[in-house]
Amino acid sequence: MRNLGYRKRIEIVTHDVLIFGSGLAGLRAAVEIARKGNDSINMGIISKVQLQRPHSVCAEGGSAAVLREDEGDNFDLHAWDTVKGSDFLADQDVVDLFVEACPKELLLLEHWGMPWSRSENGRIKQRPFGGHSFNRASMAADKTGFFEVQTLYDTLMRYKNFSRYDEFFVTSILTSGNEFLGLGAIDLSTGRFFILRGKAMIIATGGVGTLYGFTTYSQTVSGDGQALAYRAGFRLEDPEFIQFHPTGLVPSGILMTEACRGEGGYLKNSKGERLMAKYAPEKMELAPRDVVSRSEMTEILEGRGFRESDGLDFIHLDLTHLGADKINQTLPLIREVCMKFIGLDPIFERIPVRPVAHYSMGGIEADIRGKTAMEGVWVAGEVSCMSLHGANRLGSNSTTECLVWGGITGEEVIKYLKADPPSPDLSSNRIDAEYSRIFFDFLQKNGSENPYEIRQELRNTMDKYVGVYRTGEDLREGLKQIKEIKERFLHIYIQDKGSVYNSNLINAMETENLLDLAEGVVMAALARTESRGGHSRTDFPQRDDEKWLKHTLISYSEDGPQLDYKPVNITNWKPVERKY
Ligand code: FUM
Repeated sequence: MRNLGYRKRIEIVTHDVLIFGSGLAGLRAAVEIARKGNDSINMGIISKVQLQRPHSVCAEGGSAAVLREDEGDNFDLHAWDTVKGSDFLADQDVVDLFVEACPKELLLLEHWGMPWSRSENGRIKQRPFGGHSFNRASMAADKTGFFEVQTLYDTLMRYKNFSRYDEFFVTSILTSGNEFLGLGAIDLSTGRFFILRGKAMIIATGGVGTLYGFTTYSQTVSGDGQALAYRAGFRLEDPEFIQFHPTGLVPSGILMTEACRGEGGYLKNSKGERLMAKYAPEKMELAPRDVVSRSEMTEILEGRGFRESDGLDFIHLDLTHLGADKINQTLPLIREVCMKFIGLDPIFERIPVRPVAHYSMGGIEADIRGKTAMEGVWVAGEVSCMSLHGANRLGSNSTTECLVWGGITGEEVIKYLKADPPSPDLSSNRIDAEYSRIFFDFLQKNGSENPYEIRQELRNTMDKYVGVYRTGEDLREGLKQIKEIKERFLHIYIQDKGSVYNSNLINAMETENLLDLAEGVVMAALARTESRGGHSRTDFPQRDDEKWLKHTLISYSEDGPQLDYKPVNITNWKPVERKY
């Protein structure tokens, strides 16, 4: 096949700041810069989807914040829940900053028009969530993320100091040593190649969950920001900690929000027993996610699950005792999804669920204000690791995290730009090299390997060997397979050589990103010979604070990930046994 559409034509645009990713964190950062940066700062907002369609719209159950100190909630309680939930790997100064900032962020959303669900007295309604000792998941029915995104989007539209790059796929983060130079990006709708330059950048591209086949993530979430940063010289922190949410709908993996259990739903095994009574007698279904997911898997592995023909054994999420009114008012999306996707009405029938890849606790290493080691670059939201969640995130802490660090990094960038940093110098040789890499090399690949099959095999490998329970033997096998798949990836073909919405090309580049990340996840998991939070090794079942109370760091090298470690910041709470 010849290159039919691409001609060498490079557009170079320059902004003060680039916001790479337009989910909750990216939008929140953009709003901060728009409203406080006055008209002198111009932003470029880059998203591989349309600005209103980030994966954050899929966040369902709620956003954590202390809003009822008069009723007994307080910052210390929220911080303690988060630290204990993290299995003591969270940096406690980061947790303190977070819990104090959460209420302000939710009230800002309130002022910007967020349609929260309301208690009878008119206050923002809050529901119970796993691992929290107070009902602090602030909710908009079971569509919280959707409404948060729309509220931020509407707010951003009041300002004019930004340009949108919707449906732009970023191919590289261009750096030189410690200096950020710009982004290479393809405009998907035309195939034109752009160099986007900025004195500063905020990366807010989300997690890595489509490493797995059975996942709650939208297919658009392919770890691009993390992978590009990793290859550009940023370090990734704690990549081995992947969260499995206890209730992914079988067989699609669609999220059945934790709010189902927050509203009173039960998890039942094939004997009809509430299985959590055995594993977390106090918290029951509202234990943290790592605990509940392990409990479900134990039930399934010991034969008390239900059999599904394609191997996705499951247990039951039972809402039938809640009644139609409660389900229709508080869980309307859950009912609609069950009816549309599996023809089941949860008012009358139990829902088939099992643990599902849902969140990456790790991400690009950053300090407490989201600043990375690369001059002029900040990170916010799931792509980052500063480390708030440690080894296991509590449900409902993530959407608020996006808001908090969207706001903080926006503020930091305003301060940085006030000091008038120099514009980075990006040579035409470097630009030509990036163009050639994409269009004369990658696009022209004509090997024998099908990149779609490779992506599927990667996901099968991750599902099979790097799940809720892990062993050294499985991880070694997983790593071996990932290395083989990476080798085969060098021989792929790109069938479509055209320029308009070339999804063959984009799929292959996303797969390249996922492959590098998978290797890092598995190597870090293999090295960590203990069980902590979302990383549960049956060959090393205990937490080992003496050896492993430390963060993993990985750096990219041609020979594979290089591992390093750094201490956890412990201020208030020494690690103790974690019981629920
Ligand atoms: O279950 C949920 O609604 C997910 C929330 C979260 O991941 O924070």
